Amino acid sequence: MRHNPVLLQEVLEHLALKPGAVVVDGTLGSGGHAEAMLQRIGPEGKLIGVDQDADALARCRGMFEQDARVTLVHENFRNLGSVMRELNVAGVDAVLLDVGTSSEQLADEKRGFSFQAKGDLDMRMNPEIGSKASELLARLSEKQISTILYEYGEERNANRFARTIVEARRHSAIQTTEALIGILDQALPEFLSEE
Ligand SMILES: C[S@@+](CC[C@H](N)C(=O)[O-])C[C@H]1O[C@@H](n2cnc3c(N)ncnc32)[C@H](O)[C@@H]1O
Repeated sequence: MRHNPVLLQEVLEHLALKPGAVVVDGTLGSGGHAEAMLQRIGPEGKLIGVDQDADALARCRGMFEQDARVTLVHENFRNLGSVMRELNVAGVDAVLLDVGTSSEQLADEKRGFSFQAKGDLDMRMNPEIGSKASELLARLSEKQISTILYEYGEERNANRFARTIVEARRHSAIQTTEALIGILDQALPEFLSEE
């Protein structure tokens, strides 16, 4: 399944890229926006493509490896400053951040992002660093879990879910998407059917 770049025409109109422009795509994904930006910046332009997911980089390497205008970097876009310094790029004309989860990440059950797929409860965009969601659910306090769900997930039932998670982990480790779904369902049976 190929990700359709969201709001493609609007993004291109807003960026109004000129031939020769230097652009950053900080969330390459499947390279749809990058491909369209490359058409606008012409043969003299440059595109620096960044994604923290190595799978996304691998997809884009296949698409852009013959294109000398493209530099691909496996990095979190919060480190763009150091990426630019390392590449000796003094300034850019545009930065695009299409933040979120890609359809490829959601479709891959090994990544643990989707409730519709049974799999390891990982949820890291860069599986080379940090802790899996299952490890965090095993070690964080009820308050910390609730804060994560509320602040990053904007989940109004955060307290109730955190309480049920901490109760459930006393009986068995929460290691799969399926196990987490069971717990959310127990905390608030109407929750998943509302989504
Ligand atoms: C919605 S997709 C982008 C789709 C892309 N615009 C396209 O046309 O295919 C979001 C991508 O951003 C990446 N991403 C999310 N947060 C990131 C971050 N902080 N640093 C780098 N990449 C990030 C994800 O790994 C994912 O591949």
